[in-house]
Amino acid sequence: MSTYAFILGRNPELSLEELIVALSPLGAITEATERFLIFKGEISPVVILSRLGGTVKVAEIQEHFEQLSDFTRDRWLHMLRSELRDVKGKFLYGASVYGGSAADIKEIYALGISLKKYLKALPISARFVSNREGILSSVAVQKNNLINRELVLLHGTQPARLRVDDPSAMTSSTRSRAGVNAGGWYAGLTVAVQDFDAYGLRDYGRPARNMLRGMLPPKLAQVLLNLAEVRASHRLLDPFCGGGTIVQEALLAGMTHVWGTDKDPAAIAEAGENFDWLQSSFGTHRPNLAVHDVHELDRRYDRHFFDAIVTEPFLGPPRLLTRRKLTQSDLADIQRQTSVLYNALFRVGRSLVKPGGAMAVIFPVFRVLDSERLSGNFSSYVAIGWQLVPPRLTQYYPQARLSPRGTLVYSREGQVVARELTVWRSLPR
Ligand SMILES: C[S@@+](CC[C@H](N)C(=O)[O-])C[C@H]1O[C@@H](n2cnc3c(N)ncnc32)[C@H](O)[C@@H]1O
Repeated sequence: MSTYAFILGRNPELSLEELIVALSPLGAITEATERFLIFKGEISPVVILSRLGGTVKVAEIQEHFEQLSDFTRDRWLHMLRSELRDVKGKFLYGASVYGGSAADIKEIYALGISLKKYLKALPISARFVSNREGILSSVAVQKNNLINRELVLLHGTQPARLRVDDPSAMTSSTRSRAGVNAGGWYAGLTVAVQDFDAYGLRDYGRPARNMLRGMLPPKLAQVLLNLAEVRASHRLLDPFCGGGTIVQEALLAGMTHVWGTDKDPAAIAEAGENFDWLQSSFGTHRPNLAVHDVHELDRRYDRHFFDAIVTEPFLGPPRLLTRRKLTQSDLADIQRQTSVLYNALFRVGRSLVKPGGAMAVIFPVFRVLDSERLSGNFSSYVAIGWQLVPPRLTQYYPQARLSPRGTLVYSREGQVVARELTVWRSLPR
């Protein structure tokens, strides 16, 4: 069994939740912090990473020790030994430190330089790739070919004497006994990084892009699909598919029975254009596309036809997305519209999704008129047979920041509309 560190993206809560859902069936999660998650199991890190939207790097852990000063140049050299065996030309190697102090970063920088001098005497001409922040981006790792050559040091909250494969290590009592400062250090080598070129292509490379529709970033679509626990054999529907980001990511994840519907014929035409391109670029299956209003979907598809719905229905009108001024009555109007749309989705969804099936839905959070307003009337969805699935991350990471109703929120600095991510299960009747 191997131990891996999954390095989280910009929104640690979302990244952790996605990892917990995706990794729990495959092994044991032994630690979660705001920077990384430690997992023990047999996996293919490259394949798993390509399906995760919220993880930027995976390192295979080789050591767990008490103090950073326990990590020596010889240990580092030992970790790089197979890469050093047949070096041709300059040997590039690097280091990243997660959860450490400025002094820790300096210490590793000095060690890296001392390793370079040692290699020179062998003689192996080497370059140590590092930066002031002490963290190399996925771009830097990929551009400098640092897979298996980037040392990753991570400061955890578990003391090193606890075995990393002991799931009981994650109880809150051991965590509080350990305390942040008592936490040990993990050392490993990067084995996979997020493919930024592929994401760029899947986002900006699509032929039909329509900013006014409110486009979901492909990484977020992946997170949502993972939270819904969709499987390759499932029948999936996005009833507000727009240009088709969710459908696209489902197809790229290997799903073959995917439906996208939208009331706007122009959106379906854009989606069609995007899927022609996707098929020729990535060899994906073709999805089923149709122009339908959400209100009529229960008449268009058989009862319980779908295993899951994953969707982002509404992010506010274009004038909000383009940040123009909004009045109190504009906002009341928007909230009324939102409420009608989501009520229809939950009503129709209940008939379309199999009992026990999932619905992952993004709600808009309006950050306007000096306040933050959540949307949707959750108790009315519960009343018709939906059950909200609470995020699981607090079990591993109790300090997680969630919305007042305990859900995950995704936003970027200065965004007028943030996104609340929710997962629901249709209860058996
Ligand atoms: C936020 S966009 C979806 C964007 C999509 N997730 C993407 O990334 O490309 C919402 C879509 O919902 C559609 N829509 C709005 N009201 C609808 C309704 N009543 N029934 C079906 N689709 C609707 C709009 O035409 C729009 O394309």
